[in-house]
Amino acid sequence: MNQIRIAPSLLAADFGNLQRDVEMVNNSDADWHHIDVMDGVFVPNISYGMPVVKAIREHATKPLDVHLMIVDPDRYIQTFADLGATVLTVHYEACTHLHRTLQAIKSAGMKAGVALNPHTNVSLLEDTINDIDLVCVMSVNPGFGGQSFIENTYRKVVALKALIKKRAANTLIEIDGGVTDQNAHQLVTSGADVLVAGSYVFKAENPTATIAHLSSVANN
Ligand code: DX5
Ligand code: ZN
Repeated sequence: MNQIRIAPSLLAADFGNLQRDVEMVNNSDADWHHIDVMDGVFVPNISYGMPVVKAIREHATKPLDVHLMIVDPDRYIQTFADLGATVLTVHYEACTHLHRTLQAIKSAGMKAGVALNPHTNVSLLEDTINDIDLVCVMSVNPGFGGQSFIENTYRKVVALKALIKKRAANTLIEIDGGVTDQNAHQLVTSGADVLVAGSYVFKAENPTATIAHLSSVANN
């Protein structure tokens, strides 16, 4: 496995050819399938739900990295465990009892992730970082693919990496939104471990080669 993982976001796939696009990811240098679930309440958009995640699961051969952009995610933890999620990420802003939610995700056999909106300071994770397997730093406002990368993200990643070190935590840093070969290197030098990329991969003429290129920029 690559040291820096690449997680293509299927939100940017061609849903009329979902099996083809999942198989493209299977046969590429990518490490995970990133799956964005939106409820139209937490974010101003609705993506897809359980039947589509089940269809993805039936063809996917790599770990499913599920990003829940929904209110009250506790209601669906067991559902996503049953659907085969490897990582289940909830939003900090959507959880009143984040510590309890993290324990529930882990009890259901998944890795627990927490996503931070661009306005949410990383210091808010100071008391939970040792319970978090992955922090997803949103580098766009969640809800849509194809937005431009927010430059303040680098500073957040550096601060988060320092917090992880200070607490001797074993937490991966994932970046989600507007990732391309133009920002991948600086994200990795700032402390990123996982790069999500939607439009950059799926809107490319050759998605497989684009994944390989992004992975080589990130890992060299
Ligand atoms: C945004 C989603 C992202 C999105 C990234 O709300 O969480 O995963 O698919 O898409 P790009 O890479 O196009 O910004
Ligand atoms: Zn996402």
